[in-house]
Amino acid sequence: MKKILEINDLKMIAKKNLPKMFYDYVDSGSYTESTYRDNENDFNKIKIRQRVGRDISSSKLEKTILGKKYKLPFGFSPCGMGGMLYPDGEILVAKACEENNIPYILSTMSICSIEQVAKETNNPFWFQLYVMKDKNFVENIIKRASDAKCYALVLTLDLPILAQRHKDIRNELSAPPRLTLNNILQIIQKPKWCFKMLSTSNRSFGNILGHVKGVDDLSSIVKWTDGQFDAGLSWDYVKWIRRLWKGPLILKGILDEGDVKIANNLDIQGIIISNHGGRQLDGTLSSIMALKNLKNKVNSNIEIFFDGGVRSGKDIVKALSLGAKGIFMGRPYLYGLGAFGQKGVEKVIEILIKELNTTLLLAGETDVNNLDQDNLY
Ligand SMILES: Cc1cc2nc3c(=O)[nH]c(=O)nc-3n(C[C@H](O)[C@H](O)[C@H](O)COP(=O)(O)O)c2cc1C
Repeated sequence: MKKILEINDLKMIAKKNLPKMFYDYVDSGSYTESTYRDNENDFNKIKIRQRVGRDISSSKLEKTILGKKYKLPFGFSPCGMGGMLYPDGEILVAKACEENNIPYILSTMSICSIEQVAKETNNPFWFQLYVMKDKNFVENIIKRASDAKCYALVLTLDLPILAQRHKDIRNELSAPPRLTLNNILQIIQKPKWCFKMLSTSNRSFGNILGHVKGVDDLSSIVKWTDGQFDAGLSWDYVKWIRRLWKGPLILKGILDEGDVKIANNLDIQGIIISNHGGRQLDGTLSSIMALKNLKNKVNSNIEIFFDGGVRSGKDIVKALSLGAKGIFMGRPYLYGLGAFGQKGVEKVIEILIKELNTTLLLAGETDVNNLDQDNLY
């Protein structure tokens, strides 16, 4: 682990460890992947001011998010299929987040279920919900999240239909993998991964399997899920969810000023400025450019969160300076998980803390809560 110095090191190890279909699932965007690339590259267009001659002998990284004190100003975004990268992956990520007191958002499309993650942790995680046509399923899963004491509900709005990721189609991706010749060839090249995966029975979508009538095997789950994303999604749906969920409600996938204007008039507590990590509308704005546009447009009673393209502590400093209250990441922790399980996720957090702290201090600041536009050129 000593030679692992940056997120990219863990990415390379995950690539070596994982069957191609699962590595590709993480390291891909939709269609030409231009938005996926822009998310990372556009951070380079923003420059941090270097201030000297200030007392930087201590630093403060804590942040209060949605009324709860967290140790760090960042957390982990909801990502499907973590449990296919490492056995019981989502439980391990939740444990790493709990140990570091940072927020973790569990995905609807996780392999481990809400109940399994809740059983293994004490610190309440957040839960992400996709807009689905099956209203019984939605009502039921909101109740399950509430029973599991999830702290906040994150409603993802940027997936009313599924965009295409060419790699997933070429790889015939599913969880668990369908036994096609191509998949068998990919899997047998990673015997260590196969061996590890034998240690768990969690290999399909735990929040869905057994919770929908007639959905109890791979083919029925794939068919049900494909037909569930709701192209009829409207703001009325958000109002309906608001009535069902009593805790903090966050809308994920806001990118445009027109949508911020609508969100400003809803009873919500936060938005996540996000383009789904470049996995949905290819050709749209990078997340960081959207944050730049929107930072002064969101009502002060709504907290601004951000994800997309964050790969280092300096990116966190930039997004905080642009007005985000909490910075989230998807791929970095998935790379850590695919590389070394829980230890890999902890390594990601350790790397980010060091980079964040050094960047903050060299910018002449000592408290993440003081960062603002003045820290940028
Ligand atoms: C492999 C993978 C799976 C994802 N699954 C979900 C999901 O189930 N729900 C969701 O709202 N977003 C999902 N996302 C998007 C992330 O929540 C987040 O918006 C994105 O990863 C941020 O970009 P980053 O990976 O550059 O940090 C997924 C992203 C990845 C990479």
